[in-house]
Amino acid sequence: MSDPARTIPRVNSSTPRRSILESVSLSRPGRRLSSALRPLALASLVANAGLIVTGAAVRLTGSGLGCPTWPKCTDESYTTTAEMGVHGMIEFGNRLLTFVLVGLAFATFFAALLSRPRRKSLIIMSIAVALGVPGQGVVGGITVLTNLNPWVVGLHFILSIALIAGCYALWRRVDEGDGKPVPLVPAPIRHLSWIAAVVSFAVIAVGVVVTGSGPHAGDQGAKRNGLDPATVSQFHADLVFLLIGLSVALWFALRAVGAPAHTVRAAAVLIAVEFSQGAIGFVQYFTHLPVLLVAAHMLGAAITWTATLAVLWSLRTRPERPQPTTTGPDHAHPQLAEPVTAS
Ligand code: HEM
Repeated sequence: MSDPARTIPRVNSSTPRRSILESVSLSRPGRRLSSALRPLALASLVANAGLIVTGAAVRLTGSGLGCPTWPKCTDESYTTTAEMGVHGMIEFGNRLLTFVLVGLAFATFFAALLSRPRRKSLIIMSIAVALGVPGQGVVGGITVLTNLNPWVVGLHFILSIALIAGCYALWRRVDEGDGKPVPLVPAPIRHLSWIAAVVSFAVIAVGVVVTGSGPHAGDQGAKRNGLDPATVSQFHADLVFLLIGLSVALWFALRAVGAPAHTVRAAAVLIAVEFSQGAIGFVQYFTHLPVLLVAAHMLGAAITWTATLAVLWSLRTRPERPQPTTTGPDHAHPQLAEPVTAS
């Protein structure tokens, strides 16, 4: 007996092409993959934050040119060799993580493609996230080919931050609709949160410049950006004070207007993360940049950025969540048909 879930509908010439595609039922692996879209987007976010930490391991162990060339590790070999020692292994390990990102990007794209109803928004976002991975590979390659130019190393970090934003947007969108965002708080508060987000990004960008002026170049021979580390660190810390001030103001404003509880909570989490990250920043500065603290500071930057995005997303909702089609995999997920609520 044929499995009704696998039946392909009869097609007549008047059936629009899109509806044919949408009404074709998925095989079981296809259904599994499409329901994994949300966890896959989250896994991509975590992997990108992981890449920041493995990048830290490369830089902080002086392994930046552990593989001295790119895309090959040495002129003769694509992989690290015994002569390249531990630095080669660390740098090559960081390169390998790119393959994990590629695998996740492909899986996320196919999950978006196979989900029912098929949503253009999710497909476009998954392609954007996927394109960032080769982009990151190219910038990583230029990093090696320019002998760890500090500005290129910084761009590598900033691209990771952009990819985290892309993964976060996709992760949240899976559970949202495709309608226009509906604000949950008045416009002045939204403007304040955008200013805080811009300052959060500026803190990260200036942090990258601080690193470019400091001792952790990734290789003994790598040149620095020539700026005075104390002056740039001071500017970095001043921006952090501004960020904390804006975030605290945002929290008070949200409470004053009776914003939804999850919105106030998101602002509180951001403040807590900023204080923790700021504390690590000060301690590492006054203890002459011990490598473990610097690595924690890099992970903290990814977490601060994610908490900033969480505040932005908490200030609005996106209704018009598409209803599951009758033939797709969503029968197994009735919760997808529930309306989005404001809090
Ligand atoms: C919200 C708070 C903060 C964020 C998001 C943040 C973010 C960052 C980022 C992204 C980097 C560059 C990492 C890299 O390129 O590898 C960095 C480096 C740095 N930050 Fe911060 N930072 C914060 C607070 C602070 C504070 C308060 C200080 C105190 C002075 C500080 C001191 C430093 C120093 C010294 C470096 C250079 C580390 C090195 O040479 O490897 N940070 N920060």
